[in-house]
Amino acid sequence: MFRHSTRTCLVGLCALVAAVQAAPALAGGDPGGASPAPHTAARALHAQTLADLTTTMKGEAYAYAVYSLFAAEADRQGLPAVGRLFRSTAQTELNEHLREAATLAGTVGSNAANLRQAISGETYEHQVMYRRFAEQARMDGDLKAAKLFSEIATDEGRHRDAFRTALTVVTTGRGTIPAPPKADVVQVPAGLPKVKAARTRANLDTALHGEALAHAKYMLFAAHARQTGNAALARLWEGTAEVERQEHFAGEAVLAGLVRTTRENLRTAIAGEHNEATTVYPRFAKRATAVGDTAAARYWRNTAADEARHAAAFQQGLDRLH
Ligand SMILES: [Fe+2]
Ligand SMILES: [Fe+2]
Ligand SMILES: [Fe+2]
Ligand SMILES: [Fe+2]
Repeated sequence: MFRHSTRTCLVGLCALVAAVQAAPALAGGDPGGASPAPHTAARALHAQTLADLTTTMKGEAYAYAVYSLFAAEADRQGLPAVGRLFRSTAQTELNEHLREAATLAGTVGSNAANLRQAISGETYEHQVMYRRFAEQARMDGDLKAAKLFSEIATDEGRHRDAFRTALTVVTTGRGTIPAPPKADVVQVPAGLPKVKAARTRANLDTALHGEALAHAKYMLFAAHARQTGNAALARLWEGTAEVERQEHFAGEAVLAGLVRTTRENLRTAIAGEHNEATTVYPRFAKRATAVGDTAAARYWRNTAADEARHAAAFQQGLDRLH
């Protein structure tokens, strides 16, 4: 979760916490389908704990997506050991940290509930978020960003339509689950930001977090669909998840200049891990303890310890480069 980190600001992606937090409230929407589903387990939690779990999931999903890009860059630079370190850490963020937060929050529901959650997120992104971002980028003279935001807005409308069709199939038992979309994979080599306005940079950062979270949640929804014997729905979730990450997130990452040299990427990762380990997760654990959400408090304490280990491993990787 280097959304809160100083380093993130240094690489030019600031002003995002407010934007990320404000977006759903402004539109009554849900970028990336961020709201937890209303399950029994989730209702038992304090509202602040649930909000902190959502923030955690955004950060973990983002870390997974960014580390995957950092791994590819390390490979390109002929540093396979660093590539492996980024890849294995990325797996921990997604398959342990995010997954456990999602379990605590009750994010995954029935196939129908998951589809409704995703339809709400896609509708917000299609109708409100990306259109506004495109318009603002155009006004600020960031024409490449305006074009990308417009294209993604169109894609999100298609995702919403496919999920609506799938919901009808799931609820009526009639019809066919749509075939999954195919991702047009975008490579993200090291590079500087290709946008100039601060507002475009902030919007890009909000969008990157939304795309990363959508990818992670759709992978969880896919696993649930498969477990419940709906392989066609699982394929739709997986195909859409790949579009969110390999096309939308990656396209935005190029414009944001998210990937730098491996040395800089390691420093960015260390700052983010350190911030989670020493500030963000201890704060969340303390708040959860205060309201009696002990399982969530334990989760954040354990996760903070993991992040401290990640920071140390990245530091070791950096030291070996000198
Ligand atoms: Fe993590
Ligand atoms: Fe989407
Ligand atoms: Fe997307
Ligand atoms: Fe981590």
